[in-house]
Amino acid sequence: MPIVIGGIIVIIVILVTSWINSRNRQSLRSLAEPYELAIGSAVTGWQLSDQNYSSLLLEEFNLITPENAMKFGPLSPAPGQYDFTEADAIVAFADKNNLVVRGHTLVWTNQLPQWLSDGAYTQSETREILRNHILTVVGRYRGKVQYWDVVNEALANDGSIASNNFWMEHIGPDYIALAFEWAHEADPDALLFYNESYAEGKGEKADGVISLAQSLIARGVPIHGIGMEMHTGLGWSPNPQEVAHNMQRISTLGLDVQITEMDVRIEQPVTLDELNQQARVYAEILRVCLKATNCSAFSVWGLTDANSWIPSVYPGTGSALIFDEIMQPKPAYEAMIKVLQER
Ligand code: XIL
Repeated sequence: MPIVIGGIIVIIVILVTSWINSRNRQSLRSLAEPYELAIGSAVTGWQLSDQNYSSLLLEEFNLITPENAMKFGPLSPAPGQYDFTEADAIVAFADKNNLVVRGHTLVWTNQLPQWLSDGAYTQSETREILRNHILTVVGRYRGKVQYWDVVNEALANDGSIASNNFWMEHIGPDYIALAFEWAHEADPDALLFYNESYAEGKGEKADGVISLAQSLIARGVPIHGIGMEMHTGLGWSPNPQEVAHNMQRISTLGLDVQITEMDVRIEQPVTLDELNQQARVYAEILRVCLKATNCSAFSVWGLTDANSWIPSVYPGTGSALIFDEIMQPKPAYEAMIKVLQER
């Protein structure tokens, strides 16, 4: 009998201490709040109805980005037709839980509807299609989506506007400025971003982002920020000083900058040493963002390693996020917490 009672007492003590620990646990979002830095994750609509997923998400993050739900293809099954089911679910979840939404993305050459990529539309028809698309989507979420990735990945590696791009081929280089103008018309309060990949460190592509932003500003185009995607990997992550320098250049233009899609892929199988190296990469980038006066959000591209796009697109690599497959915090998470506590 005493053994049974002793056992019960031990269990109660364990439950109470873990409850106290969980209440005291400092979350990313709570630690980032004093810096006015939003902490974000990409999400899909169906994941949000999973209790474990949504409670971890709400504990740690205060910004969400639909991973695919607001892209043209997933939204529009046929010309002029929209299925907003998933996007609406994400925005409603954000509304209910007081999260900020980064709308992603209005103009991209990937994930277009087949009716559009296979269609034989003239230049003026394509312009009209894009205009209607932007007015429809931004208009629907007016006041509910605070940031929009208006144009995504428009540049080539040499920093020029990529020519092998659907919108470039069908409209010409003006598509970028037009998209920002239409988005602004549909929601004058939304903050409008140009989002780019592999342009975080020093190089022609980063220079291209700066000159694109400069020329848009010079033309009076409403642009408010630059997204640095930050898809990277062990051994080839961008140099933090170079990222800081680019954030500074963006600040000189009067623009915000956000880390929009960070993940750090590792070749499988993964060692603890590699997870620690990965932690250093997350920590470095977060530190750069905290020190930059214009860096207003830091987002990862998925909540846990079980939700990451990386293994399917870059086979043989993975473990790219800050929570593991069973939702446990990884060294990268702990390192981010430490950086936020540095002050
Ligand atoms: C990815 C999604 O994560 C995948 O699920 C989808 O199959 C392809 O797109 N840059 C972007 C994101 O801006 O939209 C991409 O998201 C990843 C690269």
